[in-house]
Amino acid sequence: MFDVCVVGSANLDLVATVDRLPGPGETVAGGSFAEYPGGKGLNQAVAAARSGAAVAFVGALGDDGAASTLRSVMTHDGIDATHVTTVQAATGRALIGVSASGENSIIVVAGANATVTANDLPAARVVLTQMEIPLPAVERALSAGRAAGAITVLNPAPVLPIDAGILRWCDIVVPNEHEVELLGGVEHLLASGAGAIVVTMGSRGAELHTADGLVHIQPFTVVPVDTTGAGDTFCGSLCARLAAGDDLPTAMRFASAAGALCTTSDGAVPSIPLRAAVEVLLSEG
Ligand code: RIB
Repeated sequence: MFDVCVVGSANLDLVATVDRLPGPGETVAGGSFAEYPGGKGLNQAVAAARSGAAVAFVGALGDDGAASTLRSVMTHDGIDATHVTTVQAATGRALIGVSASGENSIIVVAGANATVTANDLPAARVVLTQMEIPLPAVERALSAGRAAGAITVLNPAPVLPIDAGILRWCDIVVPNEHEVELLGGVEHLLASGAGAIVVTMGSRGAELHTADGLVHIQPFTVVPVDTTGAGDTFCGSLCARLAAGDDLPTAMRFASAAGALCTTSDGAVPSIPLRAAVEVLLSEG
């Protein structure tokens, strides 16, 4: 049995730095350009693995050079790729602008990610998914995880309208502060069947909302360079610690430290920290 099964997207990220992000209809000059492995699903799988979990990834890649790059990440991080299919489509791409303050703006082209079905999942203590794959696959991952007795976790990003049909299968929903409002607020999500809502708030920390009330997790102070993948790092690390038996507030503190460290260097996958680095920050915080 795996600790964490991540069902989700894998992208090659095409990243340009800019002084400030362009507005609608505007062209701005870029500084540097780089390609990094990414995708919300793969980022979360890498974060769980680097946090010490045994991880399986369920996703889809094309038959192209980007796929080779992303498969090598899975191999390097010891992530099981038995359930990663190769399909007749381009591997997913994300076009990302990163501003001087570390904020980003992202366009995702799903490509092969649009073919993920989640019809066959490996057994795991925690099932984690997001919304860069078709919603029927998201629901299938969560319902199959629930039926198998796993802890089920949804990161509703990129945010889309979701109904109680999906939320009823969620033990934990992990939106950021903008996503939670677009989904109708914490009370609505709890009333729709989710057991706990973990709201990530960037430099203001994170909040745990349950029927028992609210717990605030203090932020870790770092100097951000590139926030791409920080939310994914939080989600993957959180699930790794839940699989290891931590309670939610303890797992959230670890995840907050991991997410903070992710913002201190460039790119998504390359900036996801190892468990040892997270523990150093935790011991200082
Ligand atoms: O959450 C960050 C990720 O969103 C990037 O790696 C990009 O691929 C998009 O999926």
